[in-house]
Amino acid sequence: MKLADNKATLSFSDGKPSIDLPMYQGTVGPDVIDIRKLYGQTGMFTYDPGFLSTASCQSAITYIDGDKGELLYRGYPIEQLATNCDFMETCHLLLYGNLPDAAGKEDFTKRVTNHTMVNEQMQFFLRGFRRDAHPMAIMTGLVGALSAFYHDSTDINNPQHREISALRLIAKMPTLVAMAYKYSMGQPYMYPKNNLSYAGNFMHMMFATPCEEYVVNPVIERAMDRIFVLHADHEQNASTSTVRLCGSSGTNPFAAIAAGVACLWGPAHGGANEACLNMLEDIQKTGGIAKVGEFMEQVKDKNSGVKLMGFGHRVYKNYDPRAKLMQETCKEVLAALGLENDPLFKLAMALEKIALEDDYFVSRKLYPNVDFYSGIVQRAIGIPVNMFTGVFALARTVGWIAQLNEMISDPEYKIGRPRQLFTGSVKRDVLPISQR
Ligand code: CMC
Repeated sequence: MKLADNKATLSFSDGKPSIDLPMYQGTVGPDVIDIRKLYGQTGMFTYDPGFLSTASCQSAITYIDGDKGELLYRGYPIEQLATNCDFMETCHLLLYGNLPDAAGKEDFTKRVTNHTMVNEQMQFFLRGFRRDAHPMAIMTGLVGALSAFYHDSTDINNPQHREISALRLIAKMPTLVAMAYKYSMGQPYMYPKNNLSYAGNFMHMMFATPCEEYVVNPVIERAMDRIFVLHADHEQNASTSTVRLCGSSGTNPFAAIAAGVACLWGPAHGGANEACLNMLEDIQKTGGIAKVGEFMEQVKDKNSGVKLMGFGHRVYKNYDPRAKLMQETCKEVLAALGLENDPLFKLAMALEKIALEDDYFVSRKLYPNVDFYSGIVQRAIGIPVNMFTGVFALARTVGWIAQLNEMISDPEYKIGRPRQLFTGSVKRDVLPISQR
């Protein structure tokens, strides 16, 4: 980061002396005002719940221009990555900063696939869960449990440990998600097949059985891979910030990623794909397209508590570029599977059309986000609705780990420790119980 030529001056209306605050410039995007010395100089904190105006770190990984609807991984537009590169190349890019050449890709893929199996003991750990447990509950447990199985890569301050835990996490997430699915189905786990692509292997572990081979349909394999690429990283979102904050205490990478999985589960974040599909199914059950107008009235009524899931974003005030690509994939998959007339897709298109023309959404700059179409694609592929967020977690793992490793290597990194504006009781004495 580069010191800007100008400074910000903070003045107070009560005559306290004003102070100058340094400013920094990134390569692109808004400048930042450095308030690190503010408390020392004034005895005051800044107040920004929800981080609406706060850059929590410097990062060189992902850039979003929310007004333009632009998303770049290491400078490359998501549209180019989604059409020219696969997930392994994207992982390499996010982790190391550059797109690999053919030999580099082969080497990286080999290093990942070396780690696709999980410790055999893991299946006994899994057995402790109820069969009807939510897959994200299972995933939070399984990812956290990796630190109990891989003791040789838990030192976050050791670059070799960070490297091996990164490869392990990327390699083992599909295995764990598929195991959570098989467990819920009561089917035997399928071991990974390293001659398949990353996406193809995931489909195999999900849908093959020991008595029947799963032949991967290339359209579905490409769609799955695209879902992974589109979800791979997204700057300092809630789960990534959770991973950074958790990791800032020096905890091991598996524990930090487990914290990210837990955060992602919420319906305002990664859980939106599941919530969106449930919403579409509910509308479909109660009358389908004919009821869309009525549903939209509920969404616009602030007292109803109903939201149009898969719409709106803290950063994008324009069409989420991932949603455009996902809609394209959705059409491709539905056509390949002969589901062009899928009623939920038609319903989603009808909702989108109304929302893009309705003043409520237009004035608030609410557009479809990635979750609006990803659920329809996953459902068409045969992934059950409650597994959608697990698939998101699988894909986001590389982003989390790249961001975590970036933080640990940053000389300015400190344990995250926000402060507060205290509004509780001032000091008081405890009365004997008989007098309270
Ligand atoms: N449906 C109806 N109204 C909405 C929606 C929605 N989906 N999203 C935002 N609004 C309204 C909101 O009520 C507020 O209205 P007003 O100004 O009258 O109070 C205004 O738009 C601004 O919204 P906000 O809640 O201040 O925005 P935020 O940045 O705090 O929240 C969000 C962003 C993504 C949590 C929110 O848009 C939302 O809950 N969307 C639905 C859930 C969803 O699709 N989440 C996935 C996000 S993308 C993938 C990911 O991050 O995992």
